[in-house]
Amino acid sequence: MKQPPSTVDGFSADWLGLRETFDSDARAVAARQMQLVDRLQRWRGPTSRPWRVIDLGCGTGSNLRWLAPRLVCAQQWLAVDHDPALLHAWPAVFEATATSLVNATADLGEVALWPLHSTPVQIVRRQLDLAEHLEALPWQHADLVTGSALIDLVGPAWLKRLVTNCSAAQSSLLLTISVDGRHHWHPADRDDPWVSNAFAEHQQRDKGFGAALGAGAVPLLVRLLREAGYRVFQAHSDWQVDAHDHPQGQTMIDAMVDGLARAAQEQMPAEAPRVRAWRTRRKTSASKSRLTVGHIDVLALPPERKG
Ligand SMILES: C[S@@+](CC[C@H](N)C(=O)[O-])C[C@H]1O[C@@H](n2cnc3c(N)ncnc32)[C@H](O)[C@@H]1O
Repeated sequence: MKQPPSTVDGFSADWLGLRETFDSDARAVAARQMQLVDRLQRWRGPTSRPWRVIDLGCGTGSNLRWLAPRLVCAQQWLAVDHDPALLHAWPAVFEATATSLVNATADLGEVALWPLHSTPVQIVRRQLDLAEHLEALPWQHADLVTGSALIDLVGPAWLKRLVTNCSAAQSSLLLTISVDGRHHWHPADRDDPWVSNAFAEHQQRDKGFGAALGAGAVPLLVRLLREAGYRVFQAHSDWQVDAHDHPQGQTMIDAMVDGLARAAQEQMPAEAPRVRAWRTRRKTSASKSRLTVGHIDVLALPPERKG
């Protein structure tokens, strides 16, 4: 039987592909609540210049695929990730206009086009380690800096660097699908909270940006943005996973059970038998399970409009 993609072993294209539909539904709910597009467009004001967007930790482009059609205007995206395998795994809907991606190393330097609503979206994918080289990005040219499922991986110092760079450039920010620590299972199991707590501790391990903030990322981000004078809007962007009603629900439930169990076991090796028992009970009831995974989206608009 095909194993569900892993939720804890880095970020495979398979895992990003599985989560994309849940991310996409969750982003739509939060965007409505935050009046995302209206607020962004009012902040930007009328201009003939394309929107310039930087996507941090872009993976295989899920954030862009969701947001670009909704901005309904010409756009130039710089999509950045340190993982060349993910940058090479973007789907073929994007038309490459320049050199092949094969053999690319530091800067893929390729421009891809995504013709949308007669306003093409121009995309450059760039391989860059954001922990090391965040300051190398063209901040002054960015109208919007975005990132999805990223800031819960980072530590406080990196978050401060992000806000400092955005604030100096007066760029708007949209940081989506950041975990807030909630996992609600139906039907419930007595050990769900115990496993979730272990998972939350595991999420705070260093992912290359210092000890990760996990569910603490959004509260710190919001505080830093307000201190920098930003207007901040927040909304829940929870995954709603239903094994029965959603075509990929069962696979996602399986992936989440495996990921939670693995993380809990790594966090509490002495408790391996209890974790395994939880996993077995969850797998047995998987086909009739529902799971809510709590996330928050944050939109932040700087005091000044970008010229
Ligand atoms: C949870 S995934 C989210 C991917 C994508 N934004 C999405 O929503 O599907 C986190 C992404 O951050 C990237 N990442 C992690 N550490 C990074 C680093 N130091 N520099 C650049 N990207 C990094 C990973 O390669 C991965 O693509």
